[in-house]
Amino acid sequence: MNDVLRAELDRIRDKGLYRTLRTVSSSQGREIVVDGKRVLNFCSNDYLGLASDQRLIEAAERAMGSFGFGAGASRLVCGNQAEHEFLEQELSVFKKTESALLFSSGYMANVGIISALCGREDVVFSDKLNHASITDGIVLSRAEHVRYPHHDIVFLEEALKKATGFRRRVIVTDTIFSMDGDRALLREIAALAEQYDAWLMVDEAHAFGVLGPSGAGLVEELGLGDKVHVQMGTLSKAAGSFGAYVAGSTELIEYLKNSARSFMFTTAMPAAVAAASREAIRIIHSEPERRARVLHYASLLREQLKALGFETLHSSTPIIPVMVGDSDKAVKFSRLLFDEGIFISAIRPPAVPDGKSRLRITVSAAHTGDDLVCCIAALKRVRDQVGV
Ligand SMILES: Cc1ncc(COP(=O)(O)O)c(C=O)c1O
Repeated sequence: MNDVLRAELDRIRDKGLYRTLRTVSSSQGREIVVDGKRVLNFCSNDYLGLASDQRLIEAAERAMGSFGFGAGASRLVCGNQAEHEFLEQELSVFKKTESALLFSSGYMANVGIISALCGREDVVFSDKLNHASITDGIVLSRAEHVRYPHHDIVFLEEALKKATGFRRRVIVTDTIFSMDGDRALLREIAALAEQYDAWLMVDEAHAFGVLGPSGAGLVEELGLGDKVHVQMGTLSKAAGSFGAYVAGSTELIEYLKNSARSFMFTTAMPAAVAAASREAIRIIHSEPERRARVLHYASLLREQLKALGFETLHSSTPIIPVMVGDSDKAVKFSRLLFDEGIFISAIRPPAVPDGKSRLRITVSAAHTGDDLVCCIAALKRVRDQVGV
């Protein structure tokens, strides 16, 4: 077996796609210690700077005092602790839906929701740049899978027209695309879902806490709450915590409790994690200046990158891609930036399409204006050595 796996690893290495883990020996923040070196962090999804917020830590500690750490069993056995239910109630109020349900991670939520709602008799339409967990959920569901080109509403409409004879038609889209940082054309997609009688599911992983008047996401920003049937999102990014939710009708949530296998057959998340998420929602609600700051920093950085001639695609969020193309070059760019004290990871296939390797810069409300200046200066210094 090991010989076979060594050969596979060599093939991955030859393509410039070999991955290794780096060791972080500090808490998350604008500065972190990676492999013993203190660097400015421009690759975390901690958009609001909450991952190390003392108030989240204290909420988790209080919950551990009451509930201990491990939940002991799945929610459906004896793991359903009061903290889980409090968080679900607060999420449904925040998302303005009848009900909400927790999952242990965003990956598990997408896989569980899609495979519960769809089967062999159904068809799922999914943007080609949707997150891998959406793709995996569709594959697991065994539904017909129509991947439409990124943002191609005309293609989507044609595909919907042609898709007759299925039991259900379901459209799934990220609301912020995780590697391009652009927003879904959600108004147009929702109109098509209505016209063609399809169910609409969104993944708000990167929009939760960042977009919308109260931070509830793109659905809130566009006022589409009554057009989207399934609203999934994560608590692991802007909320600085861990886990995920789905929000929607009472029937949807009751159905998922009874059929989403990644909810039914897994241990409940620790109550301390749920308590930290509740505190994060309170902060998202009461400190709108955090999302104003991260969006402001993102637009400043984007403008400066564009002025320097970097290709940043259609980013309009705290995720800003800097296109490189070649995987080895992207890795070299990232390594040289690291030497300069700036941590930006290189993103390569299969996270992005072949030939579209890039640096993925993410901005946080925890950054300072000086951090942005350092980041831009390092990118300028290093780009010539890499030839981007
Ligand atoms: C769009 C999207 N959906 C789902 C996930 C998975 O979420 P989690 O990290 O909580 O498993 C991610 C990120 O990892 C993501 O970017």
